Amino acid sequence: MPRLDESWGDAAEAGSSGQSNRPLLLLIGSGGQIWREYILKSVADSYDLWLFAPKEPGWESPYLRGNTIVETLDAHAAMESAVRLDKSVRIAGVLCYDEIRVPVAAMVAEALKLPGANVEGVRACRDKHLGREALAAAGVAQPASRAVASLQEAQEAARAIGYPVVLKPRALAASIGVVRADGPDSLESAYTEASEAYFDEIPRDKAWVLVEEYLDGPEVSVECVCHQGRVTPMFVARKSLGFAPHFEEIGHTVSADDPLLDDPAVRHVLQEAHTALGLDTLVTHTELRLTRTGPRLVEVNARLGGDLIPYVARLATGVDYGMVAASLAAGAEPDVTPVRSATAHVQFLYPEHDLDVTSLTVGEELPPGVHEVTPMVAPGRRLRLPPRDHVGGRYVYVVTTGDSPEECAEALRAATPLVHLTGTPVG
Ligand SMILES: Nc1ncnc2c1ncn2[C@@H]1O[C@H](COP(=O)(O)OP(=O)(O)OP(=O)(O)O)[C@@H](O)[C@H]1O
Ligand SMILES: [Mg+2]
Repeated sequence: MPRLDESWGDAAEAGSSGQSNRPLLLLIGSGGQIWREYILKSVADSYDLWLFAPKEPGWESPYLRGNTIVETLDAHAAMESAVRLDKSVRIAGVLCYDEIRVPVAAMVAEALKLPGANVEGVRACRDKHLGREALAAAGVAQPASRAVASLQEAQEAARAIGYPVVLKPRALAASIGVVRADGPDSLESAYTEASEAYFDEIPRDKAWVLVEEYLDGPEVSVECVCHQGRVTPMFVARKSLGFAPHFEEIGHTVSADDPLLDDPAVRHVLQEAHTALGLDTLVTHTELRLTRTGPRLVEVNARLGGDLIPYVARLATGVDYGMVAASLAAGAEPDVTPVRSATAHVQFLYPEHDLDVTSLTVGEELPPGVHEVTPMVAPGRRLRLPPRDHVGGRYVYVVTTGDSPEECAEALRAATPLVHLTGTPVG
């Protein structure tokens, strides 16, 4: 790509400032190719894309009109670069699917006076304690939750709330450090786990751990369009969890006609939660537990879902989530009506125990209903199971489609013998 201007302070730019009649979206941060390429591929069909990231683009390159090398966790650097870029290449919207960078993306949107400027709301989504406080003030159905700064405070909180409780870090992701404690005997180890979990990129608050009432019941995530504060649920993903007392996500099922989409209690809690958090125009990934007393909120993430949920949702409904997020980012209210009525499922495969991978092969003849069986690791890779790692134990994902969740489950059973993994157990 030709240099646009090599003398722009710390931010090295590369790309074309020439004419284009397609709207340009600014992408703040990116992610792994497996997880996000399908999004960029569909967005790039209709929009120009410009990436802000701290290093040169890799797999994203074919989908970009340009990029700026900028520290995307530094809101001021990102805002300055965006304002400068906007002068030469008009920016129509800001897109971000990287959980850690969503607050910076909201600040950039605010600086450019674009949709998605939900700065306070996004902050409350990132910081689970701030979120809980805003939701509690509005009376949204959720678990009791307390922020604690020591084991003793955790013990007091657990006693007051009543066991079982969930302990979790205040602002991480991927369920890292999230653990259930069924009684006082398991509280100390749960507290140690939650309090020691960290990401280099996230500063730790003193009261770093939340102790929460355990919400019992199946879990779903709902992908929502929030347009000028009005929430429309797009897809419901039924979540399979594993590795208790941890909460590893091992599969998701999306049915175009999931009855929860029209469930008044679900719609109510979704709308109330977005309103309480002050969210205006963005897509969200909201997690709920369906408890005996009704749907209660685990959390709202101010971005589209991960774990290939948008990918299976498209297979189930025909709605292209990448395009929905892109047109919303540019200010239009997208049409999210399904054009297909199917079910699709993604399942992640894990070994029995930690393993150094020697070989991984997948048969080529896919049985009916099996859309894809894709290796996620190469020989030499160490697979580690929760709590030693989260999502780091996955070695294959299987995508199945059918007319119902049962058909998808049957196709998954037929797909599993296609996968052959060998390795050396660790430890
Ligand atoms: N109070 C609770 N009651 C029951 N389960 C909970 C509770 N809090 C968290 N969980 C479980 O733990 C999982 C991870 O918690 P949470 O979403 O708060 O953390 P996270 O690190 O943001 O995870 P992820 O990025 O996977 O969504 C939830 O999806 C849910 O299954
Ligand atoms: Mg979550």
